[in-house]
Amino acid sequence: MTDLFSKFDPLIQQRETLLETGLTDPFNLVMERVESPTVAICNGKRTILLGTYNYMGMTFDPDVVAAGKKALDEFGSGTTGSRVLNGTYQGHRECEAALRDFYAMDHAMVFSTGYQANLGVISTIAGKEDYIVLDIDSHASIYDGCALGNAQIVPFRHNDIEALEKRLKRIPEGAGKLVVLEGVYSMLGDIAPLREMVAVSKANGAMVLVDEAHSMGFIGENGRGVAEAQGVIDDVDFIIGTFSKSVGTVGGFCVSNHPKFEILRLVCRPYVFTASLPPSVVATAATSIRKLMDSADKRAHLWENSKRLHAGLRQLGFTLGTDEPQSAIIAVIMPDLEKGAAMWEALLNEGLYVNLARPPATPAGMTLLRCSLCALHTEEQVGEILGMFAAAGRATGCIS
Ligand SMILES: Cc1ncc(COP(=O)(O)O)c(C=O)c1O
Repeated sequence: MTDLFSKFDPLIQQRETLLETGLTDPFNLVMERVESPTVAICNGKRTILLGTYNYMGMTFDPDVVAAGKKALDEFGSGTTGSRVLNGTYQGHRECEAALRDFYAMDHAMVFSTGYQANLGVISTIAGKEDYIVLDIDSHASIYDGCALGNAQIVPFRHNDIEALEKRLKRIPEGAGKLVVLEGVYSMLGDIAPLREMVAVSKANGAMVLVDEAHSMGFIGENGRGVAEAQGVIDDVDFIIGTFSKSVGTVGGFCVSNHPKFEILRLVCRPYVFTASLPPSVVATAATSIRKLMDSADKRAHLWENSKRLHAGLRQLGFTLGTDEPQSAIIAVIMPDLEKGAAMWEALLNEGLYVNLARPPATPAGMTLLRCSLCALHTEEQVGEILGMFAAAGRATGCIS
């Protein structure tokens, strides 16, 4: 018998070597208690959270929590069914209405996760004969959506407008074309030049899907994302998003003005062949989305936090993923995995949680400490965070 697990041996070896040094496992941390969107207890210690994508801090919002409790009491713990059978409750409809209002679009479809939203929409609209042109740094759920639909995949260099245009021009005349982009790329926290890319895509007869997972709620005048901020939201055919970041719960969605959009509810397998979100989840999501419509002050404070952290880390001597802060993600580039893991642990010991990211999830084989800010981080907390980076950076030799 061939052990089907033998393909994982190099990864098992790498992990064991790292843990033999006595390092805390960076991918196995337990949040023992969560006190607020910005503070948890980890290893018995008060820890500032700087790696949760809880951008708008909605997880403990009293209205959001109350809506979830009410739905749990009134509708029970789960739907036990697909959206096309017994799994569409009033709450799912209300959640989709909140999304339509939030984006000012005609259609909204809620999935059980953002991963499934990409998987479902991409695989259903782009099939075997079609072409998907996508940024090479696209999220795993985008690649998996392409694979599930069996379309021809044409990747182009990250954020390279000319490369996108060249790829589009090489596709046979008359073929179905879908360009897939992200508003914010979550590894380095950089944004896409959507204005140019959407124009190039349209000029070459392609439909455009933009994943705004890391920009919804924060970027753009109404928090609709990078497409809104760059003035091209009306030219985007499909926006994908998640409830697991700014919305503060779990779930995914697609919004669109396409006149035939609703047919997806019958043909999209990751929508049809899975149970729908629990009533408490859609109730929290709907409440949160409606509150995000009216959150300009929080958006402004989050920008302040992002700028303050970016400038402070730079001043300490860290190498960052972007020259200027472009989103609520600030990526600190580490020289290698060993140093990155040591720095991650030193920060945790200081009382700070960030994400350690490493290849293959990262571009160009980088090891990153990814920081995601929250609108509820106070100015004092950002100061504390910078103090912890200074101490941990010096202790590990990452800065002098
Ligand atoms: C760009 C992007 N798209 C989609 C997803 C999937 O979202 P979810 O957590 O809702 O499955 C993520 C999550 O990390 C993401 O970063």
